Amino acid sequence: MILVTGATGAVGNHVVSHLVEAGAKVRALTRNPDKAKFDPSVDVYVADVDKPDTLPGALEGVERVFMLAPSHHAPAHDAAIVAAAKGTGVRHLVKISGLGTIDDAPDAITRWHLAGERSVKESGIPWTILQPGEFMSNTFYWIWGIRGEGVVREPHGDTRQAMIDPRDIGAVAAVVLTTDGHEGRSYPITGPEALTPKERVAKISAALGRPIEFQQLTAQQARDNWVMLGAPEELIDAVQSVLADDSGRWAKVYNSVEELTGKPSRSFDQWLADHLPAFR
Ligand SMILES: NC(=O)c1ccc[n+]([C@@H]2O[C@H](COP(=O)([O-])OP(=O)(O)OC[C@H]3O[C@@H](n4cnc5c(N)ncnc54)[C@H](OP(=O)(O)O)[C@@H]3O)[C@@H](O)[C@H]2O)c1
Repeated sequence: MILVTGATGAVGNHVVSHLVEAGAKVRALTRNPDKAKFDPSVDVYVADVDKPDTLPGALEGVERVFMLAPSHHAPAHDAAIVAAAKGTGVRHLVKISGLGTIDDAPDAITRWHLAGERSVKESGIPWTILQPGEFMSNTFYWIWGIRGEGVVREPHGDTRQAMIDPRDIGAVAAVVLTTDGHEGRSYPITGPEALTPKERVAKISAALGRPIEFQQLTAQQARDNWVMLGAPEELIDAVQSVLADDSGRWAKVYNSVEELTGKPSRSFDQWLADHLPAFR
């Protein structure tokens, strides 16, 4: 049995469907079963990682765990899963981290994930770390500006990110969780190219066949917008520092999707073609 945490989220959802496709027995952890829209073969288990007494039942009969925590909860959530997994039949932990942990990037998201990685690596249980770049699905944050006004407002319009399609993270995770030889390995995961926000806006504009304006925000304006949307303050600061980092570390492209799954990673053009109706 494979336990998938974060199963109802952008990535976990694809991890579950790829595992089901591979014929694995899957248990999906969620706080809210109404969000669980999975194949009927999936065992939906209601638990809350912030309530450790709900975890032992989730781990019963489990051999491998896919660990996904919201960034700012990664230190606590990863430690809680590790504590619950110790002394059980769990023999492989696979943690979603971030690309910044490759070279200790100086942002808080990287620090949170490094703390989580330490829990996993010191657990005594064989582990694998997946280090994805920015998700292409973050582009959904632009939907309302594009639909309503034909405008995207962002800071740092020229910083390149080697974005990854969450479907490809799901495919990689399923391979790592169902085949041997990945223990003690960390895999950076990106798409095939690094794009700037302005280039993505140009692609969306071309695909929709109408002009979309890119308006560059100051860091303070962007901060105010995210506060208005209800994002936690510590997360806003962390995301700001990733977006402002033009060292090139987020632009490096890795070939691990193809190496692990045998299929090339999806491009932003492919992601966009598959999700274009959402932007109309
Ligand atoms: N977005 C990016 O560009 C990017 C890039 C690299 C790495 N990452 C990393 O990817 C992760 C985020 O992945 P995502 O976008 O797929 O997440 P998401 O869509 O925001 O989903 C969060 C998931 O966490 C679960 N969750 C939250 N609190 C929980 C709790 N107390 N107990 C149990 N489950 C809980 C939620 O489940 P329920 O609500 O169903 O309980 C949900 O399934 C973060 O670690 C982030 O650092 C993100």
